[in-house]
Amino acid sequence: MTFSFGEKFRIHVFGESHGELVGVTVEGCTPGLEIEASLIQADLDKRRPGTGNIVSSRCETDIVRIHSGVFHGRATGAPITMTVPNLDVDSSSYEETKRKPRPGHADYTSRIKYAGFNDYRGGGIFSGRMTAAFVIAGSIAKVILRGVGIEVLAHVIQIGTVKVARDITDEEIRSNTYANPVRCAASEIVETLQSEIERASHDGDSVGGLVEGRVLGIPAGYGEPLFDSVESLLAHAMFSIPGVKGVEFGSGFRGASKRGSENNDPLILRDGKVAWSKNDAGGILAGITNGAPIVFQVAIKPTPSISKEQETVDLERLEQTSLTVKGRHDPCIAPRAVSAVEGLTAVAIADLLLRGR
Ligand SMILES: Cc1cc2nc3c(=O)[nH]c(=O)nc-3n(C[C@H](O)[C@H](O)[C@H](O)COP(=O)(O)O)c2cc1C
Repeated sequence: MTFSFGEKFRIHVFGESHGELVGVTVEGCTPGLEIEASLIQADLDKRRPGTGNIVSSRCETDIVRIHSGVFHGRATGAPITMTVPNLDVDSSSYEETKRKPRPGHADYTSRIKYAGFNDYRGGGIFSGRMTAAFVIAGSIAKVILRGVGIEVLAHVIQIGTVKVARDITDEEIRSNTYANPVRCAASEIVETLQSEIERASHDGDSVGGLVEGRVLGIPAGYGEPLFDSVESLLAHAMFSIPGVKGVEFGSGFRGASKRGSENNDPLILRDGKVAWSKNDAGGILAGITNGAPIVFQVAIKPTPSISKEQETVDLERLEQTSLTVKGRHDPCIAPRAVSAVEGLTAVAIADLLLRGR
């Protein structure tokens, strides 16, 4: 099992969905770095898209506790360990899915890999709950990034088949994303996105979505080719978020159907400095930042736990059977994944930054 990520800014994640807590230990903070619990708490609060029929009814207050590595509000240089408790736990529906694995979830593969010893309650380590640790670590990473003028943004750009059809400014992402439960910066389609989730939920089903990430203010020259290119590290981080099934940088898969003359970003001189007339490269060339914003999209699958009847196998009786998933589940993961994308992006970028140019 690998629960650690990063080289110089390194995080170690621990806990389970229905265990005592979820937490993270962060290494690599310069002594003296200001660590404010209230800022971490604000990021954690953004992970909860509110209540209502588009989110799970599990309600965790997620009050962060800093156990070590911070003294008088500043990093000491020792590992910083932080946790949130699991308080609203109901494991009653998970005995059935242990025996009858949920299609699309971790039940079957984790049972095989860990020989049945894994904590399957609430999805165990494969729960979206683990993203609380990503958000906490990201909050610390953001302190480092803010200090050098780098900002990470994320927002929903598609749910089900409904897409944001226009360019979104950075300012719209800052002001609008966390002001609505679907975490979308294009205010005019928030209600349509919400109905898309409600319609699926009403059918006992779920929908997927796309989240866009942006890294602003990162200078040219960061990235560790060949194997720790910016794309490699960010994709590694994004694929650690449960439910993520695709990551695309800049024009990405769409670029494959373009001509070079269309896809290349011409270099221009702006105020005597090298710049790019557009950003199909998504801010990365040769695995190295080119000075433009890093822009990427993350594809998130429809929530696997749905109440619609699905086929599965009873692993104890070894017979074909069906399953109607009970318990508390988000009918769409994408809104809640936004802060995880933001957090793990900050972690990966802080690590790249500390690795230097
Ligand atoms: C924030 C977040 C919340 C999630 N909530 C649920 C959920 O309520 N029900 C569910 O079945 N899956 C949920 N997932 C997704 C599963 O954890 C994930 O699909 C499962 O572990 C299988 O992994 P994979 O989809 O990456 O293959 C969530 C994921 C995230 C990131």
